Amino acid sequence: MSALRFSLRFNPMLSNITLIQTKSLLFSFSSFSFSVRKPSKTLCSSSNSLLHTNGGTSNSSPLSGLEDELVGYIFGKKKATEVAHLVWRHVLHKGDIVIDATCGNGYDTVAMLKMVADESGHGRVYGMDIQTEALENTSSLLDETVTQKEKELVKLLPICHSRMDEVLPENTAVRLVAFNLGYLPGGDKGIITTSKTTLLALEASKKMLILGGLISLVVYVGHPGGREELETVEAFASGLCVDGWICCKFQMLNRPLAPVLVFLFKR
Ligand SMILES: C[S@@+](CC[C@H](N)C(=O)[O-])C[C@H]1O[C@@H](n2cnc3c(N)ncnc32)[C@H](O)[C@@H]1O
Repeated sequence: MSALRFSLRFNPMLSNITLIQTKSLLFSFSSFSFSVRKPSKTLCSSSNSLLHTNGGTSNSSPLSGLEDELVGYIFGKKKATEVAHLVWRHVLHKGDIVIDATCGNGYDTVAMLKMVADESGHGRVYGMDIQTEALENTSSLLDETVTQKEKELVKLLPICHSRMDEVLPENTAVRLVAFNLGYLPGGDKGIITTSKTTLLALEASKKMLILGGLISLVVYVGHPGGREELETVEAFASGLCVDGWICCKFQMLNRPLAPVLVFLFKR
C-alpha cells in the first residue's frame, strides 16, 4: 500500500521546476506546498491512456510549460484563477465541450469560451449557477466581451451543478469541468456552494469527462463551510484511481485564507 507521490523540485534560480516521481516525499518550498497524490490500490475501470495536452507530446506532464506561471503564483504575482485559466489553456482544444459549474459573474465562462470557440461554430460551454443574478451577470459579460456567434456557443442553465449529467445530452464528451467555489462576488454571501452538492457534482464530472480531460477547482476557505468543502474535495481526489488520474493541489502554507487550487487530470 505504498502511496506514491509526485513533488515539485524547485531550482533556486527560478528557472526550472520539474515533476519528479518519488516515494512518499512531499516537497515544500518556503511557504508553498505542492503535492500530486497517486493513491494506491484504488481500482480503475478506465484505460491507462496517456495524457493529451495542448502543451506538448501525448506523454508530457499535464503541467509542463507552465513552470513560470506556477512560480508567479508562489510569489503572489498570479492569482489562483489566472493559474487555473493557464492550466485550462494547456488542456483545451478549439471545438471542445466544457462545463463552467459555477458561473458567478461570468469571468471563467468567458475565458473558457475564448479557448474552445472556433470559426466554424464548434465548441460549447455549458454554464451553471443556482442564482439568476449570477446567470444574468454572466450573460451581460458575454454581451460585452464576445461576439454574438460566440455567445451562441454558450448554454446557461439555472440549475445545481450536481445535476449536470441530467441536463447535458447523453454521451457528451466533456474535456473540462471547472468549479470556482464559494459565494458570488458582490452578491449574497449566504448563498454558497456546499460540500454535499459539490461532491455530487464531482461524481457526475468524473463520469462525463473524456480521457485527457480535467476537473479544475478553485476552493475558498475563508468563509463558513469552506474548509469542510476543501476536505470533501481532497477526500474525493484521494480516492481516484492511480492508473486513471493525476490529482494535485496548490496551497500556500502561510496564507491560510488563500484560495486552494486543485487539478484532477483524467488520463
Ligand atoms: C465564486 S462564485 C463563481 C465565480 C465565477 N466563476 C466567475 O468567474 O465570476 C461561486 C458561484 O457558485 C454558485 N453556486 C453555489 N452553489 C451552486 C450549486 N450548487 N450549483 C451551481 N452553482 C452554485 C454561486 O451562486 C456563485 O455564483
